[in-house]
Amino acid sequence: MFYSLAKKVMFSCDAERSHNLALGSLKRLAHTPASLLWRQQVAAKPVTVAGIHFENPLGLAAGLDKNADCIDAFGQMGFGFIEVGTVTPLPQAGNDKPRIFRLPEAEAIINRMGFNNKGVDYLVHNVKNASYKGVLGINIGKNKDTSNERGKDDYVSCMRKVYPHASYITVNISSPNTPGLRDLQFGDALLDLLMTVKNEQLDLQAQYDKYVPVFVKIAPDMDQLAVNQVAETLLKSKMDGAIATNTTLDRSLVEGLAHAEEAGGLSGLPVQQKSTDIIRQLRQAVGTELPIIGVGGINDSASAKAKLAAGANLLQVYTGFIYRGPTLVKTIVDGL
Ligand SMILES: Cc1cc2nc3c(=O)[nH]c(=O)nc-3n(C[C@H](O)[C@H](O)[C@H](O)COP(=O)(O)O)c2cc1C
Repeated sequence: MFYSLAKKVMFSCDAERSHNLALGSLKRLAHTPASLLWRQQVAAKPVTVAGIHFENPLGLAAGLDKNADCIDAFGQMGFGFIEVGTVTPLPQAGNDKPRIFRLPEAEAIINRMGFNNKGVDYLVHNVKNASYKGVLGINIGKNKDTSNERGKDDYVSCMRKVYPHASYITVNISSPNTPGLRDLQFGDALLDLLMTVKNEQLDLQAQYDKYVPVFVKIAPDMDQLAVNQVAETLLKSKMDGAIATNTTLDRSLVEGLAHAEEAGGLSGLPVQQKSTDIIRQLRQAVGTELPIIGVGGINDSASAKAKLAAGANLLQVYTGFIYRGPTLVKTIVDGL
């Protein structure tokens, strides 16, 4: 009821404006009685993955709370974990607006935000000041002006700042909206980046006497051969897990719809099957050990269960949550 009203108002405004309004309200109201509008108890469905204890396997995907402004409010909704970011070493404005488009007929979104964020120092400040005590993933990327050759310096510099505050760290190399970023997913560039990340992780482990797992987030736009190569590199570099998947460039399922031709990454229902297929292929390639967080088009119990059946250990939602609101968290977790 609350969300259907809020959604009516938000969907009548520009997508980014309503996103900012919603986040501003969640941040302001998280510690007031108004938070009763979204607070909910969900069933306990505990699970341990990559050595981390999760109250339930459903998380908030990266990109919704890029600057970690609203961790407390999202925690109140019953998510088993929250992933903030993508954050870059320096603040950056992202691409020109408009840069988010709703495709309601397909329960989808196209975005070309381009890692707009306030920088890693601002995010860490927010994390330190939050009361949320649950599992927190921090998703890191590189600044647009940093070349791919120097990209690893950006990942390392973010790792050093977020390490003491993160339950896990995600290396995002799969956004389609930072030119050239996805090239880091392949061949020597990937191995080189992930070996650097691994060495840094081990140094930081010694420094803080705490092991923070690192996950790598991949795109859905890969054939089996590419998935196999990524899998091999993940294992070789001893990464702790994968997140599959980010948004897709494929428009075949939204042809003819308003905004379908906008540049950017497509998320929601049209990426559901594609990302499940990638999870299945990745699971086959990595064997049973490597944890996978499944994300892409989850919008009900059945689609959540399909990702688990394909081999995911944990789940995340973004677009389904925008269309269906906080009750989606309860529906999915209670139904598991
Ligand atoms: C507006 C928007 C912004 C996003 N920003 C990020 C981001 O900064 N980092 C990231 O790793 N993924 C980002 N994503 C991708 C989501 O985390 C998720 O992987 C993808 O949307 C597929 O899941 P969904 O279909 O549930 O939305 C973004 C998605 C949307 C819709």
